[in-house]
Formats: sequence, C-alpha cells, structure tokens
Amino acid sequence: MTKRIESLRIIENKRLNKDIFTLELSSPGRIPEMKPGQFVQLKIEGSPGTFLRRPFSVHDVNYPQNTFKILVQIAGRGTDTLSRLGNGDLLNLIYPLGNSFTLPEKDKKVLLVGGGCGIAPLLFLGKYIKSTGFAPDILLGFRDSTRIIEYDEYSELGRVFLTTEDGSLGKEGIVTDHPVLMSEGYGTIYCCGPESMMHVVAGYCKAKGIKCEVSLENLMGCGIGACLCCVVDTVRGNLCSCTDGPVFNINDLKW
Ligand SMILES: Cc1cc2nc3c(=O)[nH]c(=O)nc-3n(C[C@H](O)[C@H](O)[C@H](O)COP(=O)(O)OP(=O)(O)OC[C@H]3O[C@@H](n4cnc5c(N)ncnc54)[C@H](O)[C@@H]3O)c2cc1C
Ligand code: FES
Repeated sequence: MTKRIESLRIIENKRLNKDIFTLELSSPGRIPEMKPGQFVQLKIEGSPGTFLRRPFSVHDVNYPQNTFKILVQIAGRGTDTLSRLGNGDLLNLIYPLGNSFTLPEKDKKVLLVGGGCGIAPLLFLGKYIKSTGFAPDILLGFRDSTRIIEYDEYSELGRVFLTTEDGSLGKEGIVTDHPVLMSEGYGTIYCCGPESMMHVVAGYCKAKGIKCEVSLENLMGCGIGACLCCVVDTVRGNLCSCTDGPVFNINDLKW
C-alpha cells in the first residue's frame, strides 16, 4: 500500500472528555484506502522538544467526504499542543502505516475490547466488520462515567458492555472483570489498550483457543521500519511493530 507524506487540514477538533479529543482531517485530493489497525505519523509543530513524529491510529474514515479522524489522549507535550489546534490548521502526516486487523472467522461471534484511548482503532474496525456482515459485541472500559466516550457511535455497531473502575456506570472494575468476556463463546477477540489489560485478554484467549489480535502501542521513532526502536520479540524473531504490526496475533507474541 503506497504511503504518503501530506499536509492535511483540520476541519474539526472535538473535545470528548477532559483528556481526549478527536481531530477530523481533510485531504485536498482523494484519501488513500486505509485499513482498521493502521496508523499515521504526525509531525507536531510548535511543541519545543517534540522532535519525532507521533503515532495515532486511524479512528474513523469517511471516503465520500475525503476525511478521516484520529482520537487523541493528552499524554505529554506533543498531544497537548495538538489539543490546541483548531479548524483550518494544517498537520503533516505520513500515512497509512502498519498492518491491519484480519477479518473474523466465519459464523463466529466477535468481541472488540478496548480500554481508555485504546478504543481508538476499534470504531473503524467495528464499522469494517459490520460492513462484512458481522454484528460485533463491544466491551469498553473507562476510569469513571465522566470519561466514557463515543458510546452512541459504538452502540450503532452492536451490543456495548461497559466497565468503570469506580462503578459509576456499567460493571464496576476493569474490562477484564466483565463476565461477557468469559460467557459468550466468542470466536475472535480484538483488543487494544493498556498492555496489562491485553495480557489478561490474551491469556484467556490462549487458554480457550480463541483467535485474538492485539494492537501494540510500542514507543516508535520513524514509523517506517528504519530506526528499529519499536522491535517486538516474537516467535518469528524480532519484528518491527511499525511495519510488521502494530496488530499481532497473540500466538506470535511471547506473552
Ligand atoms: C501504533 C500506535 C498507535 C497509537 N494510537 C494512539 C491513538 O489512537 N490515540 C492516542 O491518544 N495515542 C495513541 N498512541 C500513543 C501516542 O502515540 C502517544 O501517547 C503520543 O505519542 C504521546 O506524545 P506526547 O508528545 O504527548 O508525549 P510525551 O511527552 O513524549 O510522552 C508521554 C507518553 O507518551 C509516550 N510516547 C511518547 N512518544 C511516543 C511515540 N513516538 N510512540 C509511542 N508512544 C510515545 C511516552 O512513552 C510517554 O508515556 C499510539 C501509539 C502507537 C505506537
Ligand atoms: S518506529 Fe522506527 S523501525 Fe519502527
């Protein structure tokens, strides 16, 4: 898939909660085909000390409008600078990068599991899966009810199950505490979020023989396989998370 370096215009910066916002980006030409799980490398101008581009998952794509979205959690100086950008500002991107999630096994139930801003690639994935005839279940975990984001968007795709750490909405606890994970006989589980959470989901899937793919958020430098700072130790040897991933089947990981 051809990669582009392009300056795209922000047409909306939408705050979803205290720390998370989406940026909708518009291309002057046709946006390239993108697959769920792929990411972009963003150059962040105006943030002294943010030299490297920053990676963000493709969150949603609107081909007819030539726009797509990224969902960003403020984590440091670069993302804080991004949060202050507004309509009309330009962002330079390398995209689309990385591999993508594979389609679920036929006639088997599908679960998407995400925690916090780890839900970023799951909206695009859920829409893609739904367009191929599956109705995914979606399990989302947040710290508390004030941090829940995009519930309505996910509800349009399938059944949504929620956890909050303080029990203010949904089941109290973290996503891996929710009984739906164990009870529904899923054929494929897709997971993105904190690594500790993905480890638990992966361990459960391995024990039950469930197909499971996780999206890793390893530190990245170049995003294009040149700097080797994103290497993952796998059963197939050292692989670059930016070019061989960020999506991995858990059977390939030494977890
Ligand atoms: C493939 C991939 C997809 C991602 N998708 C999303 C997403 O959709 N939404 C989202 O909010 N975040 C996503 N992240 C994480 C996001 O890239 C970091 O939060 C962001 O780079 C932090 O930049 P900063 O300058 O604000 O933080 P800094 O002040 O530089 O550091 C704050 C934190 O961010 C981490 N971080 C810094 N630079 C990088 C880097 N180059 N790569 C990875 N982590 C870094 C640091 O380890 C630290 O914990 C993704 C990461 C990867 C690898
Ligand atoms: S980020 Fe440079 S090789 Fe992966």
